[in-house]
Amino acid sequence: MAWDRERIKELVEEKLKDYQIILVSNREPYMHIYREGEIDVIMPASGMAIALDSLMQTCGGTWVAAGSGEADQEACDGQNAVMVPPQAPKYKLRRLWLTREEEDGYYYGFANGALWPLCHIVYSRPHFLNSDWEMYQAVNRKFADAVLSEVGDKRTIVFIQDYHFALLPRMLKEADPRLLVCQFWHIPWPNFEAFRICPWAKEILEGLLGNDLLGFHLQYHCNNFFDTVDRTLEARIDMEQFAIFRQEKATWVKPFPISIDFERFAEMARAPETEARMADFRHRFYLEGIKVGLGLDRLDYTKGIPERLEALDIFFQKYPQYQRRFTFMQLGPQSRVHIPEYKALNARVDSLEEEINSKYRTGRWKPLLVHKGHLSHEEIAPFYRLADVMVVSSLHDGMNLVAKEYAASRVDNDGALVLSSFTGAGRELSCAYAINPYHPEDIADAIFQALEASPQERAGRMRAMRSWVQEHNIYYWAGRYLRALMHLPVED
Ligand code: G6P
Repeated sequence: MAWDRERIKELVEEKLKDYQIILVSNREPYMHIYREGEIDVIMPASGMAIALDSLMQTCGGTWVAAGSGEADQEACDGQNAVMVPPQAPKYKLRRLWLTREEEDGYYYGFANGALWPLCHIVYSRPHFLNSDWEMYQAVNRKFADAVLSEVGDKRTIVFIQDYHFALLPRMLKEADPRLLVCQFWHIPWPNFEAFRICPWAKEILEGLLGNDLLGFHLQYHCNNFFDTVDRTLEARIDMEQFAIFRQEKATWVKPFPISIDFERFAEMARAPETEARMADFRHRFYLEGIKVGLGLDRLDYTKGIPERLEALDIFFQKYPQYQRRFTFMQLGPQSRVHIPEYKALNARVDSLEEEINSKYRTGRWKPLLVHKGHLSHEEIAPFYRLADVMVVSSLHDGMNLVAKEYAASRVDNDGALVLSSFTGAGRELSCAYAINPYHPEDIADAIFQALEASPQERAGRMRAMRSWVQEHNIYYWAGRYLRALMHLPVED
């Protein structure tokens, strides 16, 4: 039987009825902003937040996250909480507020200036500063206090998201051993040689071993983690149960490749407004009779965006018949803008856009359109539908949910996915056109191959990818995770 919303609901009601669920992430699923003097709500550009929102809407509970919208404080009640989603409230979003200093040290500094480049092998060097590390510890403590204040007397599962909180599991377990603490690490876990350069490797591992269950996307990342622990700490690794025992405490470490709410994307893609917007975009961007390519990412150096645009240049040189017949759209907001590597990336994308357009542009036709603003899901759906080829060229990516969203959105079984082999998604979507994103010629050839494929081949590949994602959806992921949790030998 397939996993869907109802089945998760039943599982939670039947097996976890005595528990409350508290989810913790840095990025909140809903941000309140001011638009034309009124408070409005947007969802951030985080595949993680969007996928988990579907789940929290199903299970209910409390989501603890840092407030990041300019109107967030005004939208909250006296307890810093607001019920979401705004149109049909299903769970509580409890916000906490970080000072600028905390945000600089913890978010920009240690999480995104040290851990992010440490875990993604893309040849971007991590920066390790004592002051950032101190702020990372302090903010993990601040989140621990916020979570503990939500627990009360109830039995509680605390479900922590990502690399912002390597220390939180241990802090929680020490404060309240009755808590069932689990974490999902959404980014890759590197091998020991890469990880060992972190000056606080031991503390980070000890923090993570506060978890009862620790999830990664791939078995490969789990194996890297086992090896890292084995070579850094005194601990017993049990490869039969996939568990680590340290000072009487057990942590189970397992792979759970995350996914998306397939039906939510398929529904959006089918909506009449999407069809209307497609027609409008074709007209507005002069796409009549033009094939469309799409890239959709936060502007992040791990996503291989300059590599993709360099490949586009090669594509137009090598296959000149596609000049005036193919337009590539690169969409997605700027991200982590205070970090120098992100500023440099932003400038590089601008300069490539200028170079490619001045080299090939003729009349109304533009080879490349770049849009760096925020787009809602309703606005993205028509682009997914319009794209004859979608290019995901991450240099390294834990999963990459955009690839799965694209497949779910192709309700017409058309379109083609060019996908980096260095993504978690690349392990699952074997009917995509696989590329090495470090090799621009390879990307250019794959775009050509995808565009030239017969309608039958494109439909066959797309059907296979859609049926994989439909079955291995976010509810399937959650079902496996919750079952693994239920089978843990945890004390009352
Ligand atoms: C990655 C991380 C998420 C994060 C997202 C957006 O997918 O795994 O935890 O939310 O990027 O990044 P941001 O820094 O804007 O939250």
